[in-house]
Amino acid sequence: MSNQEDRLKTLIGHAKEYGFVFPSSEIYDGLSATYDYGPYGVELKNNIRRYWWEAMTRLNANIVGLDAAIFMHPTVWKASGHVDAFNDPLIDNKDSKKRYRADVLLEEHIAKYEDKIAKEVEKGKKRFAEGFDEVQFRATNPNVKRAQDRIDAVEGRMKTALEANDLEAVRQLIIDEEIKCPMSGTANWTEVRQFNLMFATELGSVSGESSTIYLRPETAQGIFVNFLNVQKSARMKIPFGIAQTGKAFRNEIVARQFVFRMREFEQMEMQFFVKPGTEMEWYESWKAKRIAWHKALGMPEENYRFHDHIKLAHYANAASDIEFKFPMGFKELEGIHSRTDFDLKQHEEFSGKKLRYFDSETNESYVPYVVETSIGLDRMFLAVLSAAYQEEKLENGEERVVLRIPAPLAPVKIAVLPLIKKDGLPEKARAIIDSLKLDHNCQYDDKDSIGKRYRRQDAIGTPYCITVDHDTLTDDAVTIRDRDTMQQERVKIAELSKVVSAKVDMRGLLGKL
Ligand code: GAP
Repeated sequence: MSNQEDRLKTLIGHAKEYGFVFPSSEIYDGLSATYDYGPYGVELKNNIRRYWWEAMTRLNANIVGLDAAIFMHPTVWKASGHVDAFNDPLIDNKDSKKRYRADVLLEEHIAKYEDKIAKEVEKGKKRFAEGFDEVQFRATNPNVKRAQDRIDAVEGRMKTALEANDLEAVRQLIIDEEIKCPMSGTANWTEVRQFNLMFATELGSVSGESSTIYLRPETAQGIFVNFLNVQKSARMKIPFGIAQTGKAFRNEIVARQFVFRMREFEQMEMQFFVKPGTEMEWYESWKAKRIAWHKALGMPEENYRFHDHIKLAHYANAASDIEFKFPMGFKELEGIHSRTDFDLKQHEEFSGKKLRYFDSETNESYVPYVVETSIGLDRMFLAVLSAAYQEEKLENGEERVVLRIPAPLAPVKIAVLPLIKKDGLPEKARAIIDSLKLDHNCQYDDKDSIGKRYRRQDAIGTPYCITVDHDTLTDDAVTIRDRDTMQQERVKIAELSKVVSAKVDMRGLLGKL
């Protein structure tokens, strides 16, 4: 098993043991690529959603929210292009019988050349130390140039083939590049075929063409079809945005890697409506804002990178992903897309209704352009969990697993632990929880030694443990232990809320944006 697979397996095991994520319908052996969030998982997920929601709707006076239905009129998906073009090009290996996305095989192949370049650059940095000029190095180092030429050649052929929907050319490229199946190690490939990713179901009891509806594959269309409802009712002026979080469904053929790629998942999307011609400015501005949102969490900066798309979706004139270093390597976490006026124009055409904005200052009426930011909540959850997970050896020789979850996102903020289960300490501990619980999610624990209780809280990422001892009964002070430093200090109960809030409140995080 590779190191990456090991890391992911460890994380999946930890997530299950500590109540973050369970396989769906586990007693029936599970349902592939479907997961349930447990008691701590749902808290973490809700906190991530809240961070996104408040960053969007509270910090931007010109962004408002929406909660559209999952089911939509079937013509929505005809207009959006999903019925005809929401496909994955799939290829099977005849020996292993494993199925792959052809474009992903090629992208992973390109990533190997990118890794080679990164290693050369690292070597160069070490060799030339202070005098290292990365731009010049990349332009002149023969190994880097060779790898870059390969990347350009493969990307060029892939773009042409995918844009022309030339599936035979995609297959030929896989063969020419000698890409092998990771399971069988052979290049015995089938033809490349297109699969539509939408789930269809029947509305009501009568089956038939007219009653077929789809589970939405993205939340964005609910925003587009409500564009005028929102604009008029909330009296929005362009530029303005509509934010929405909710479930989306895709029949992912190659669904694996835990909550990274699921068939039922949650998206957090924001469509920003702008004047045509200004979209590139807004696209750059949203790229900067979104990466700042990620970085404010304080997770390692080297975990993020932008990846500009070569193959643009049918609706976009520019698109970039924020990629995150997951246990499986760098993968897409969020997409920022300049979607032009494609969606609104399509809905105008298919519905026969005008979806135009009237600018009363210039007396102009136009179909706005849209810049979209779209992030998978489950992927963000995995990003936070994987960056947080650490196994540490302590000075006393013991080991601990600690989740260094950014404190405002932590499922439980404070654990209150009476030293022993008698002498009035449990009652005092519960009184402290009562005084804190309106502001913070607190947990009471009196089972096992204090050391074991600390380990349990470290394993779910609780930023603070508070110990109530006999002195507490007379001095009204407690010992507060910091998850990350494991430092302990004595704090008056009256000061607790202030001390804890400084680190765990969402306002600290939002204040950085
Ligand atoms: N409205 C644009 C849109 O849906 P996308 O790149 O297809 O764009 C946006 O999806 C985000 O949704 C992705 O960046 C990813 O975080 C998340 N996502 C997409 N498919 C997913 C899946 N099968 N499982 C979990 N998250 C997924």
